[in-house]
Order: sequence, then C-alpha cells, then structure tokens
Amino acid sequence: MQAIRDELDRRAIQIMRDNDRGGYTIPTHGLYPYQWNWDSAFAALGFAAFDPARAWREIEILFSGQWLDGMVPHILFHRPDPGYFPGPDVWQCRGPLPSSGITQPPVALSFARRLYEAAPALGEVPVRMLFDPMRRWIQWFLAWRQDRGAICIAHPWESGRDNAADWDRAMAAIDPADVGSYERRDLDHVHAAMRPTKDDYDRYIWLVQRGRRLGWHAPSLAVDPPFLVADPTMTFTLMRGVRDLIWLGERLGLPTAGLMHDLAMLEQGAETLWNPAIGAYDSRNVLDGAFSGTLSNASFLSWYGGIDRPELARTLEEVMAPLPYGVPSLALQDERFDPRRYWRGPVWGVLNMLVGMGLEEFGHPRGAALRAMTARLIASHGFAEYFDPRDGAPAGGGSFTWTAAVWLAWAGQGLAPAEG
Ligand code: SER
Repeated sequence: MQAIRDELDRRAIQIMRDNDRGGYTIPTHGLYPYQWNWDSAFAALGFAAFDPARAWREIEILFSGQWLDGMVPHILFHRPDPGYFPGPDVWQCRGPLPSSGITQPPVALSFARRLYEAAPALGEVPVRMLFDPMRRWIQWFLAWRQDRGAICIAHPWESGRDNAADWDRAMAAIDPADVGSYERRDLDHVHAAMRPTKDDYDRYIWLVQRGRRLGWHAPSLAVDPPFLVADPTMTFTLMRGVRDLIWLGERLGLPTAGLMHDLAMLEQGAETLWNPAIGAYDSRNVLDGAFSGTLSNASFLSWYGGIDRPELARTLEEVMAPLPYGVPSLALQDERFDPRRYWRGPVWGVLNMLVGMGLEEFGHPRGAALRAMTARLIASHGFAEYFDPRDGAPAGGGSFTWTAAVWLAWAGQGLAPAEG
C-alpha cells in the first residue's frame, strides 16, 4: 500500500509543479489558464505537504489582487491567454491586477490557519501581513453579499458551483435576449455534455455585461440586482473563515474585535438556509424568498462551518447510500441529476474534503468513510476535475491542481490497506 501511496503522492506533486506558473497555480492547462481564487487556496494546501514556503506564496499572490473595497476576485488574469473566455477585456475591471469583478468561497481564510498550524514559525509573518486584508474581505462579504445573516452570490460563478440546480429558478428570471454574440472557449477543451448549457452561459455573460456597465461599483450593483441567492457554500465557508481568523488573531495577539459578532450573525444566517422540506441546508433566492429545494454537496457544509445537526446527518446517509464515491453535487434522487454535467451530479474531491473534514472534526464516522471513498476515487480514476458519482469515470479537465491538492492534504491518508 505504501508503494501505491508514494506513487500517487509523486503524481500529485508533479501535477502541482506542472500547473505552477511561478508563485501562483492554474487549475489545469488549457481550460483554466489563470489563477482562480478557491482553486488557489486548495493549491496552497497541496504545496504545504512538500513546500510550505511556496504554499504561502500562493495566498500572498491571491491577496495581491484584492480590491480597495476588500473584495478578492475570483480570477486574477496575470498573463493574457486567448484560450479562455471571458478574459480581462470582457470583465474590464480596475483592481490592482487584471481580474474578474466577482469573488469566490473564502476557503483561503481557513487554509491560512492550516498553513500556520503546520509550521508556525514560517507562518507568523505571512499571517501578520494578511490578517488585515483577510478581515477586509470578510467585511466586504458582510457589506455587499449578506441577507439576513446568510451570504449571497450575485453571479453563479461566485459560488464556485457554476451550474448547480440551486440557481435554476433564479437564473430563469433573467432575460438575456440582448447579450449579443460571444465565443465560448471551454468547449474547445471539454465535451459540451460535461459543461454548462448555452442558456446558462448567456446569463453568465449577461451578468458580466451588467457589472461592466456599472463599473463594478458595489453600491450600484446592489440596486435592483437581477440575481441574488443566499448560498450555503458561501455562508459556511465564511463562517469557518471567521472562526479561523479569530483563532489566528488570539494566537498572535492581533485585533479580533467585531469578529465574534460577525460569527453570531452568520450562525443566525445559516438558520435561514435550513429547509425542513428537504431536511438540509438549501439555497434561498433573496429576490422572492423561495428555497431552491436542492440537495447538493454544499447542503452538507455545516459541520465544516462549525454546526452539528443530527437531522442533516440522516439526510446525508440517504444521499450517500446509493453511491460509492461520496457526496454528489446533486442527489441521485433529484430528477435534474445529470452524472457528468459539472455541478449537476458529479462528485468533486474538494467538496468531499470540506464535508469530510467537518464531519471528522465532530467525530462522525462518515467523515473517515468519506476520506476513504475520496482516496479510492482518486487512486482508481486519477486527478480529474470531477467524476461521475456512480462509477468514478473521470470528467471535465484532467491533471487538476485541486484534486492533486486534496490527495496530498487529506485523501491520501485515507487509503486503507485493502486498497493497496
Ligand atoms: N468556473 C468558471 C468557468 O468555467 C469560471 O469561474 O469558466
């Protein structure tokens, strides 16, 4: 077994090195040629396993793109690459680096704590440098993406779960008739059956055009938003981020005033996402108040956020029972389930990891089981972007940074002797 694990470690490290662009890491060659926010945070965890200084560099470069208002963009376009659409010319943002105008789940806040805990002497200076920027990002979320204490997305790409069924009804309310023509580049790299549809893309691009028209000015964007959905991904990752920042602040004597209050507000906000009809956390359309009625892998992030809920554990059992490789991005029982289409069914190593870590921290046996399933998935099907949750068939982009990082940071230790 050790030999197998060593070989997978070696392959994972090779993927991270191949995708390293000198201080920041692309998710995968071709399909995603820039620095993505939460991919980059996972990359940092992967690097921490073999090059802790490089791990901090990843986070520092991510924050070098932070806007004056505190937002940390979801993509930093360090070097032009015509193989991706929409690029910097479409976004037309004016941050310190060419970037997108939206954000992504703030897992970097929590992963900074993990990096620090793994090597406190190395981490102290970066934590001191990044502490205030991290606080300002939190304040940005609370000012511009908050509804009744829950954290919202203003574009499906912000959630990181682009075409999740969660957004279907909110997206249907947008009429993108005037979007004009554009050329997708993702379909040059991945089969259309594994990607969002044209209807989705028209709305993605239409929302970008609106942001550009309003100069990406947060107060203007907040007036009559055409899309605003409170999202468990954002709410629980920010909740966890605030907890971890409090921990770091207390450890290093940095100012934590106000963060406890923020945390309490997020905990109240999470309650507004509890949908008794599905026995799980759900997304809530802020514009009409309706739940989406979707059991996704983000429905089970509350343990990661720091909240234990027995009813949720029962729902998780039902969702995981028919599948061998963990928590699908949409429950198999849902009629919209589409096993290879991105966030509408496939299983993702990163979400397995966040859900699994949370469960493990609360001592739920399902956490270790999820880790072992993820280990088996990667050991038998490689480092793909995502996988068919029924048989593990690899899907989307290959040689993927965050799947390699999940292996190095978490799943690799879950390879049971029987698997060797
Ligand atoms: N995931 C998006 C894409 O596919 C952008 O964040 O391009």
